Amino acid sequence: MTTESRGDGNPAIENLMAEKRVFPPDPAFSRQANAQASLYDEAERDYVEFWARQARERLTWTKPFETALEWDLPFAKWFVGGELNVAYNCLDRHVEAGLGDKVAYHWIGEPGDTRTLTYADLLREVGKAANALRELGVEKGDRVAIYMPMIPELPIAMLACARIGAPHTVVFGGFSAEALAGRINDCGAKVLITADGGFRRGKEVGLKHHADEALAATPSIKAAIVVNRTGHDIHMVPGRDHWWHDIVERQSPDCAPVPVDSEHMLYLLYTSGTTAKPKGILHTTAGYLLGTSYSHEMIFDLKPDDVYWCAADIGWVTGHSYIVYGPLANAATGVMYEGAPDTPTWERWWEIVEQYRVTILYMAPTAIRAFMKQGTHHPAAHDLTTLRVLGSVGEPINPEAWLWYHEHVGGGRAPIVDTWWQTETGQILLTPLPGVTVTKPGSATFPFPGIGADVVDANGDTVPFGGGGYLVLTRPWPAMLRGIYGDPERYRETYWKRFPGKYFAGDGAKRDEEGYFWLLGRVDDVMNVAGHRISTTEVESALVDHKSVAEAAVVGTKDDVTGQSIFAFVILKADQTPSDALAVQLREHVAYVIGPIARPKQLMFVPDLPKTRSGKIMRRLLRDIAEGRALGDTTTLADAGVVDIIREHSGRAEE
Ligand code: PRX
Repeated sequence: MTTESRGDGNPAIENLMAEKRVFPPDPAFSRQANAQASLYDEAERDYVEFWARQARERLTWTKPFETALEWDLPFAKWFVGGELNVAYNCLDRHVEAGLGDKVAYHWIGEPGDTRTLTYADLLREVGKAANALRELGVEKGDRVAIYMPMIPELPIAMLACARIGAPHTVVFGGFSAEALAGRINDCGAKVLITADGGFRRGKEVGLKHHADEALAATPSIKAAIVVNRTGHDIHMVPGRDHWWHDIVERQSPDCAPVPVDSEHMLYLLYTSGTTAKPKGILHTTAGYLLGTSYSHEMIFDLKPDDVYWCAADIGWVTGHSYIVYGPLANAATGVMYEGAPDTPTWERWWEIVEQYRVTILYMAPTAIRAFMKQGTHHPAAHDLTTLRVLGSVGEPINPEAWLWYHEHVGGGRAPIVDTWWQTETGQILLTPLPGVTVTKPGSATFPFPGIGADVVDANGDTVPFGGGGYLVLTRPWPAMLRGIYGDPERYRETYWKRFPGKYFAGDGAKRDEEGYFWLLGRVDDVMNVAGHRISTTEVESALVDHKSVAEAAVVGTKDDVTGQSIFAFVILKADQTPSDALAVQLREHVAYVIGPIARPKQLMFVPDLPKTRSGKIMRRLLRDIAEGRALGDTTTLADAGVVDIIREHSGRAEE
């Protein structure tokens, strides 16, 4: 079905009309699709056996597993007794099968430099990097922190860790020194792998100086490896810092992969929760590799000749699961791009699709909306006819963006998979299967085969079709988190307590009359800015950390491009005077403490905050205030009306 001309230009009407439209699969696509409708029934008959069969067939084991699942709620162990190595599964076995010359990554730097790495190249580089880690004393079980731009050394570093059984924790390059230090200290990492910097939006973005600042407060770090990416002058600490081109380049490429237990920790990835302290989400080996690789092959309909581009940053879970582990386990050819979509121009991504003949493209709605804003002429100027599957991830995709993506990127042909999942889930859980599912713009459709999901009310009872409530997962799945590092109680409390026996995702959802899932956004104090999770409390504590601030409350407000943006209400200390300059300073302070992604877009000084009697900030009211007003970029002086509303509610309202 192709897109017809829609409505009268009124977005509300368009939205309603769009939601009612359905897109059945093209029979020609269905005939060649990897996924078949029968998968759902097969998985439903015995979901544990379904996954066990996949695990036996898809993964290469050094020791086969004995038990598919041990479920001691909420602690799961998958493929118990098995041993394997992730790097072997992602590299060696493909080279042994004759795929050494197949391209693993076409890498494109923002300034236009390129590198091509085949599976044989990647295996060699990973072996050298693993030997360098060994030389620095890293052993199985030791944690390694990685803080890098989107350059090939990033997946190489991750796979090098996996090769020797050292769990990694990748910290997104946009995070601050403080955020990096907090994560390193939480997991006690021994080595940091970083770079002098990277390129983003036409500029050099320095990383090493942040790393230096972080390492001043991280006693567990014994050594750092630094990639020379920008050539910028940086300070190397003698005895601690080693250039990648010295310590890695002189190593032998031969490094035997270390077999590890199925439940051995593969990595930690920190994500925001409802408190100021990020959670170290713990993923293990076999279940994660199975969940990511199998879902990748089915959901993107991956074929040997595909050129697959996931335009996320590897610093987030999307990159871990669907740039590195899933695709490499599937011997996919991927594109990896260092920079921003608008640099040097808004043509960049479409040029890449055209030049590399990309067939599968996976990106976030925030990027789609940013492209939409630029108009259709950019994608129209390029040959995008190679694209055959499109994916969306990270936030609810509004029907307008879905339709734009479908028409102007997918040429009205390519099926769209709107994939719902989380750092915690490790793999995609709600999604259409291309060639099988009839899609509706804005709906993530149904649980992936083998996955149990439900929408429940506040009592945990299933909400009938047509109604809304909380999204829960009703069964364990292979790539699920195994816990929060060092804090089993928080794990129970956050995910398993609210609805006993069910995983609480923190998302609102509804199901329509046909059972399609529609995600409605977070129901907790977590914001989703451009597909990135940021907790309100984290930003509030960053603000209160500033010497001028007495109190702060932060809400996420609707934003046309980024989905939500951050709006901060600030009470200054008595001796401070509000000013535009101070507002700018406070916003920068948050960027400094957490990272630029958390910089509030708007900041308003207020004399008071609306609170319940028990002192809980009434964020819903603040959201109404923030969304009801056009305040410009920064607003320093509280409007009398706003002050009145806040005063009126303070201390009066019930919980
Ligand atoms: O609110 C949901 C939203 O992103 C949250 C997970 O964020 P994070 O752990 O950073 O992982 C993002 C990439 C997997 C979810 O709780 N979310 C993610 N995908 C979708 C989504 N919301 C609606 N539709 C989606 N497809």
